[in-house]
Amino acid sequence: MKEAPTQTPLWWKSGVIYQLYPRSFQDANGDGVGDLRGIQQRLDYLQWLGVKAVWISPIYPSPMADFGYDISDYTDIHPLFGTLADFDALLADIHARGLKLILDLVPNHTSDKHPWFLESRSSKDNPKRNWYLWRDAKEDGSVPNNWLAAFGGPAWEWDEVTQQYYYHAFLKEQPDLNWRNPEVQEAMLKVMQFWLDRGVDGFRVDVMWHMIKDGQWRDNPPNPDYKPHMGTYDQLLPVYSTDQPEVHDLVRRMRALLDRYTERVMIGEIYLPIHKLVTYYGVDNTGAHLPFNFQLITLPWNAATIAAAINEYEGALPLEGWPNWVLSNHDQPRIASRIGSDQARVAAMLLLTLRGTPTLYYGDEIGMRDVPIPWNQIQDPQGLNMPDKNLSRDPARTPMQWDAMVHAGFSAVRPWLPLERHAGQRNVALQRNDPGSMLSLYRRLLQLRHAERAFTIGNYTPVYGDHQLISYIREEIGGKRFLIVLNLTHRTALFRAGERGLKGTVVLSTVVGADDRDLEALMPLEGDEGIVVKLDS
Ligand code: GLC
Repeated sequence: MKEAPTQTPLWWKSGVIYQLYPRSFQDANGDGVGDLRGIQQRLDYLQWLGVKAVWISPIYPSPMADFGYDISDYTDIHPLFGTLADFDALLADIHARGLKLILDLVPNHTSDKHPWFLESRSSKDNPKRNWYLWRDAKEDGSVPNNWLAAFGGPAWEWDEVTQQYYYHAFLKEQPDLNWRNPEVQEAMLKVMQFWLDRGVDGFRVDVMWHMIKDGQWRDNPPNPDYKPHMGTYDQLLPVYSTDQPEVHDLVRRMRALLDRYTERVMIGEIYLPIHKLVTYYGVDNTGAHLPFNFQLITLPWNAATIAAAINEYEGALPLEGWPNWVLSNHDQPRIASRIGSDQARVAAMLLLTLRGTPTLYYGDEIGMRDVPIPWNQIQDPQGLNMPDKNLSRDPARTPMQWDAMVHAGFSAVRPWLPLERHAGQRNVALQRNDPGSMLSLYRRLLQLRHAERAFTIGNYTPVYGDHQLISYIREEIGGKRFLIVLNLTHRTALFRAGERGLKGTVVLSTVVGADDRDLEALMPLEGDEGIVVKLDS
């Protein structure tokens, strides 16, 4: 349905989503790992910051082979994180504050310890045999096809007992479910229902584009652009093992369930080129509300590339398809480590002024950087399985830096992953009262978004771009207009406002103390500066 501009936009359109990695946010029970009660203790902070929704990476019972993305029970809480009662208390507190909670749903695969898989692997005629993807060996005993696992090695694991291979897109401890089986579909819809009935406001659906594989099990072709530094998985193009047309029927079914509740959201984790990504909105927007748009993560940080990507995305969105933007997540290097601390301020301004829902990764708001992890302390299986490629995701999953106390206020004991060496200088407590800090910048950007509808429901119009600058206007029809100019380089830049007839006042700059100045006809920007200008008309 078309939304009249006077209506209040839905929360997941106007609000900012905050992703937190539960192991690393706040440890309340003193075991070095974060937990639900810890999250609850920090809700004051999230409210002060100004985000609307919290997305928590998986908190379900799990053997933790992939840190919770290997689930052995979909409808309970891992004791490490707390209990269902703790969960209900957290959810109630979140709702009492007018905030929302998004859970991580991992439908593509279970843990190999999940009772469904234990049954499935017990014999060939077990009723759950067909819940997973079992295939015979080729005549010579080799794997059924050439598909590779994302965390290294082949995607097929031999089962001695029943003399067949099973498919796993990730670890062998994460067997893929057979989503062509209606019983599997029903079972997972029931899981969703369980949490929706409990009151959760939506799901981030893990590896949505993986859920259905080619019915003929054809070999994937080689990737001509493969380079040795890449994960072994990238040696092939996963054209038969992912993004199959039938996936959209599943997404539609999941969405139909959500639509039976009020204002719930479905976000899809999908790493695909834009023209394929947008198909996950579904025909007439009956698919995911927000197929994650990872361009700001995957593309080189270069003004011309980013400007083109923004416009390509805006142009490719289906009618009524709502955009979204992300800078970091628990699988990727942090933004401050990819582009540097000064550019990360420009990135923050980009994230929070583009059209669409921003997702903010915990710690980015204080400029947290990837933390080097000594080899003997690496935990992430992706890092351990391909040791020569520096692919561990641990550096971006380290504990939140709250204050200058012992263990940065995260825990009373040594945390599960090491803290950043500079946690004593880079933390929430210090940055809260420093107007020049990253945290203050994020907070001001969030306040601006809340105060001005131009940033939420406003149009996006590109203005000018070159090898240094990106600029665009956000405008509420019949309301205010804001110009955003971002310098994506460390050199000074000039924005020619005069020849475009643009006049106005800078209301926010990434450079401390550089706001409250007029937009000049030949507007100089410092290196690493971004400005938001309120236009005169
Ligand atoms: C997704 C998750 C990642 C996990 C993988 C397998 O990509 O974000 O953390 O390892 O799926 O579930």
